[in-house]
Amino acid sequence: MVRYLKMGLGIEQRAHTLAPFWAEHLKRTRAAQERWAKSAKGEWLTVLGAGHLLDFDKMSLLPRFQKLRMVDADRLCQPVWNTLPKPVEAVCLDISQCLDQWIGALGRVRETWTETLRLIREHRAPAAYGVSGEALLSLNILSQLQIVWQDGVEALLERRFGLLFVRAHEDEWLDALRPAGQTLVEQHLAAIERTGPGFVLLITDLEYLEYKGVVFETDRWAPPPVDWSAEKGWSAESGVTSEVSPALEGVELNEATFARWLPSYRMTWQECWLWHIAPLGTETVAYGEVHRVGAFALERSC
Ligand SMILES: C[S@@+](CC[C@H](N)C(=O)[O-])C[C@H]1O[C@@H](n2cnc3c(N)ncnc32)[C@H](O)[C@@H]1O
Repeated sequence: MVRYLKMGLGIEQRAHTLAPFWAEHLKRTRAAQERWAKSAKGEWLTVLGAGHLLDFDKMSLLPRFQKLRMVDADRLCQPVWNTLPKPVEAVCLDISQCLDQWIGALGRVRETWTETLRLIREHRAPAAYGVSGEALLSLNILSQLQIVWQDGVEALLERRFGLLFVRAHEDEWLDALRPAGQTLVEQHLAAIERTGPGFVLLITDLEYLEYKGVVFETDRWAPPPVDWSAEKGWSAESGVTSEVSPALEGVELNEATFARWLPSYRMTWQECWLWHIAPLGTETVAYGEVHRVGAFALERSC
């Protein structure tokens, strides 16, 4: 599907342009995989959202598994996977098992604005793609499901009702997306419980923060002008204003959520870091963007 090709090319291009700012995030992402590789092992490793392997830690994971199952909706990733020195099963599909179908069907709807939003609000994600195997790495894909849904709906609404109208009613249509967005996240977790891999590492964006107040140079790394701690939450340098929004439609990845959706698992460790993904002045002068990213290691306990 073209939307995934565009997403993949966009990620590659941004990773190249903003390399100094992405390096720290990529290092933390790979370090989390290295930590996980000390316990995770088996015949098969399945990677959801393998993409172009920009954030996949080959060094630590390849020696631990005999076979790799690489999963992504972007077909252009296959040649990259074929360079790996292990047998690879390439799986190119929409892991939500519904987004492509939802967006395709909405494109044929010819209802009024109110009725279209009512139809959007009714969507609930079905059982997501899952496959059994010893280990599962969900690699920065969970928050992307909602982004695919939002971008797809936005494009359809703009085509049908016009850009200005859709911008003016942004709160309404974003609100209509939420119930489906929440179930996309929940079904990702439910698919893990259903298929039951022994070892799971879930890496995902947790929150997005937009800030104003400090401009950065493109080619020299600098930490974001905001910080986050488990005790105090977000804090900002003086003169910096910010706005935070959830990346997982209100689903908090905590003990209670795991107990509800992954009752056969126990969390063995978690880490959290900030990704200065688009410093103010690099991609836009309107605002800078920081993501809070989490890594959660889970093991099946029954
Ligand atoms: C943020 S990227 C993760 C980075 C990726 N590991 C890499 O190195 O390029 C998210 C990946 O998820 C894939 N993706 C997004 N939605 C998907 C879906 N519904 N089904 C399967 N893959 C999806 C995209 O194609 C993209 O490769």
